[in-house]
Amino acid sequence: MKVHFFILLLIISWLSKKITSLPLESKVLDRRSFPDNFVFGTAASAFQYEGATSEGGKSPTIWDYFSHTFPERTSMQNADVAVDFYHRYKDDIKLMKDLNMDAFRFSISWARLIPSGKVKDGVNKEGVQFYNALIDELVANGIEPSVSLYHWDHPQALEDEYGGFLSPQIVEDFRDFSKVCFEEFGEKVKMWTTINEPKIFSISAYDTGNKAVGRCSKWVNSRCQAGDSAIEPYIASHHLLLAHAAAVQEFRKSNKISQDSKIGIVLSPMWFEPYDSTSPADKEAVKRALALELDWYLDPVIHGDYPEKMKKQAGNKLPSFTTEQSKMLRNSSDFIGINYYTGRYVAHLPYVDPARPRFKTDQQFEWRITNHSNHLMGPMEERGIILSVPEGLRKTLNYIKDKYNNPIVYIKENGVNDFDDGTKSREEILNDTFRIKYLEDHLRQLHKAIIEDGCDVRGYYTWSLLDNFEWEHGYSTRFGLYYVDYDNNLERYAKDSVYWFKQFLDRLVVKSSEESMEEEEVRDVSRERSRKEGSNKTLDNSEAFETSVGSIIYLMTNTSRREEEESDRCTFEIPYNRLDLLFGSHTSFGL
Ligand SMILES: *[C@@H]1O[C@H](CO)[C@@H](O)[C@H](O)[C@H]1NC(C)=O
Ligand SMILES: *[C@@H]1O[C@H](CO)[C@@H](O)[C@H](O)[C@H]1NC(C)=O
Ligand SMILES: *[C@@H]1O[C@H](CO)[C@@H](O)[C@H](O)[C@H]1NC(C)=O
Ligand SMILES: *[C@@H]1O[C@H](CO)[C@@H](O)[C@H](O)[C@H]1NC(C)=O
Ligand SMILES: *[C@@H]1O[C@H](CO)[C@@H](O)[C@H](O)[C@H]1NC(C)=O
Repeated sequence: MKVHFFILLLIISWLSKKITSLPLESKVLDRRSFPDNFVFGTAASAFQYEGATSEGGKSPTIWDYFSHTFPERTSMQNADVAVDFYHRYKDDIKLMKDLNMDAFRFSISWARLIPSGKVKDGVNKEGVQFYNALIDELVANGIEPSVSLYHWDHPQALEDEYGGFLSPQIVEDFRDFSKVCFEEFGEKVKMWTTINEPKIFSISAYDTGNKAVGRCSKWVNSRCQAGDSAIEPYIASHHLLLAHAAAVQEFRKSNKISQDSKIGIVLSPMWFEPYDSTSPADKEAVKRALALELDWYLDPVIHGDYPEKMKKQAGNKLPSFTTEQSKMLRNSSDFIGINYYTGRYVAHLPYVDPARPRFKTDQQFEWRITNHSNHLMGPMEERGIILSVPEGLRKTLNYIKDKYNNPIVYIKENGVNDFDDGTKSREEILNDTFRIKYLEDHLRQLHKAIIEDGCDVRGYYTWSLLDNFEWEHGYSTRFGLYYVDYDNNLERYAKDSVYWFKQFLDRLVVKSSEESMEEEEVRDVSRERSRKEGSNKTLDNSEAFETSVGSIIYLMTNTSRREEEESDRCTFEIPYNRLDLLFGSHTSFGL
């Protein structure tokens, strides 16, 4: 009894010091609430960041071609300069370090490494040098590199020659490209991802036509020069999956890759709830919608084939895998990368016009942002455009855990944008309270998924370090923790979220020697307790210790005020016109 009282006293005194020494937000949750070795990073991609588009031997990518040939389809903007990461990466790595980040996710531009797209035509030495220098600089600064092989920017030459991802030929060219990457960088890079968001790429490039290569049926979008929205998205995804499997095969064969290196695919699920929670049809539609986000890719990379539900609904439009391909795909992802941003209500679509077939309606559902009783899916900031649905992240992670036997997951992107219509001052944009709240809410749900639900999530990367070129939206939508001043030499400015994240990630919380001693004592007590309870959830290390303290702190926090704020947010006037522009029926979501 006495011992228990003493422990309680220790914890309370330790907590009260923490509570008085830190601002409200960070005592709720911080780095130390997460498991040991949990990785925090920022994410970026080559085309959106590098610029130097015709420097250093790089050839044009599909996005160079798309943005220069149809500027009206990319907000009259291109990424010739982007945020000039190619020249400024050293300074930008200082920003990552200043944020206390552990890792950086970036992609290798296929067109910079292998300009013709084909290894037989030669590897560009300058490209190899650039990525080596970038990786070395990251490592020298204690930032772990995480490399994406495909972030939507293959050489236009392959598009011209055989239609890019519409052709099976791309699979072998991608295999060769990935092999060069493993040879050149495999000794220094332990974290690899193959294909970024295959679904967004397939739909935006081949169903809606909003993103490069901008193909679709004429009736879907009159700007499309050619395409078939009913068939091509399936074909593109099929080849993306095979390209993924080919790269993983090379990865596992390579003698440059160490035992503890990992490779995986990156998906971008939204979470769904039924439009009418009393409608069985809408509930079924939710299942189909989730299967399209996740199972379409997870079933092949885990079990080696498409899900039955999808085969049934898509019929002969869905290609099939040969026995050999199926074998190559099975167990081809060491982890699942997840880019999570938002959620939607889903309504069953009872009728689809047979004269207007398209991928989007094959599964007979529609997205909505409000439900049948006009409830908005999540709070929308006056100035933002992404509906914040943090519980959706936890639910998505549980879906994966339950359906696929709890695979290792990394959150490879999560973040929120600010719509810059040119009327806001820099100071206004730097004050990104809404972003801090978005990040915090998502990190809290992630924490619950790990600690309370047992989801095996090992890392979290936020999109993005800097404002950057956001595809068809150009530079108007700002996702950065750092603001980029496009009018003045691309100067970087810290938004308020930088200071918040920096503190969240602080490894060395300043404390007096007395406090440290108490902390040690509490640790010892925890260890003893864990041994007695025979728990194998080891409390031996600071990971578990911080975790348990984290939940106590969480319980002590008064959440009522937060909830009030939350409901207020829902009553904000929604900029429907802007929403329609970005999420309407003619566009698709993807970053
Ligand atoms: C709409 O969402 C709200 C909030 O989750 C819920 O209370 C309500 O029942 C939903 N309405 C329908 C028709 O599903
Ligand atoms: C899956 O692949 C990994 C990496 O090659 C291997 O270690 C593991 O044993 C495989 N698992 C199964 C079930 O085949
Ligand atoms: C920053 O924005 C928040 C919320 O929009 C507002 O309450 C606050 O006053 C702003 N801070 C400054 C310094 O303008
Ligand atoms: C922990 O315990 C569970 C159930 O008692 C067991 O299945 C699991 O293998 C144990 N894990 C370790 C690392 O000992
Ligand atoms: C929590 O905050 C709410 C709203 O501000 C307040 O009404 C309530 O009394 C608080 N509860 C406690 C236990 O402090």
